[in-house]
Amino acid sequence: MVQSPQVSPPQSAFADEVSSWSDIPGWFHWREGQQEAVATFPEGSTFVEVGSYLGRSLCSLADVVQTAGRDFTVVGIDTCRGSGAEGRANENAHGPAVDHGGGTFAGLLHRNIVSCGFADAVHVFISSSPKAADFFVDGSLAWVHLDARHDYDSVVGDIEAWAPKVMSGGWLSGDDYDDRYWPGVVAAVGDTLPDAQAWLTAQWRWLKP
Ligand SMILES: C[S@@+](CC[C@H](N)C(=O)[O-])C[C@H]1O[C@@H](n2cnc3c(N)ncnc32)[C@H](O)[C@@H]1O
Repeated sequence: MVQSPQVSPPQSAFADEVSSWSDIPGWFHWREGQQEAVATFPEGSTFVEVGSYLGRSLCSLADVVQTAGRDFTVVGIDTCRGSGAEGRANENAHGPAVDHGGGTFAGLLHRNIVSCGFADAVHVFISSSPKAADFFVDGSLAWVHLDARHDYDSVVGDIEAWAPKVMSGGWLSGDDYDDRYWPGVVAAVGDTLPDAQAWLTAQWRWLKP
């Protein structure tokens, strides 16, 4: 999400019917990065998104893959319990969706994936990062995108867990690389991956040597 939590989109519509990724509430906007990934990596590669919320960015990725007529494995990982209060506004942006499902938005996330036509194309792993990283072999992933909790310690933990899983030549990237709203993200990336670069709008990316 490039926007600050203070100007996040309305969350009241999270349970509305959807048929396309763009109908799904969320903050994702940098589709050109997904198109670059699909054009860069060989068919059969695996892409992992850590922090999927209701599936806006995940369904966009599946749509980009489908539109390109290419074959990739697309995995989304989320606790489905939200990030809790965070950011300068200390906003619990995912709270209403969590409450709607009685403590989990897993049903909404999966419904959105099914409604967008990606039931067989997208794999959802309800798990916490960095523990989820243990289920993947080192060097096996072409691209891991981090968009889970945004405090310094969480981002450092995510980077340390997922960087070994990325193959040589692969990408580790993340959302909300913006010092105004998410200083913990910028500090964590700077301290753990000094070679990472700003990417697109408010994203960061590390190209694994
Ligand atoms: C900013 S949202 C993701 C938005 C999504 N990428 C999009 O653009 O539509 C952050 C998500 O991270 C999840 N999350 C927070 N901490 C997590 C953790 N430790 N492991 C896995 N998911 C986590 C939350 O449940 C929430 O759904």
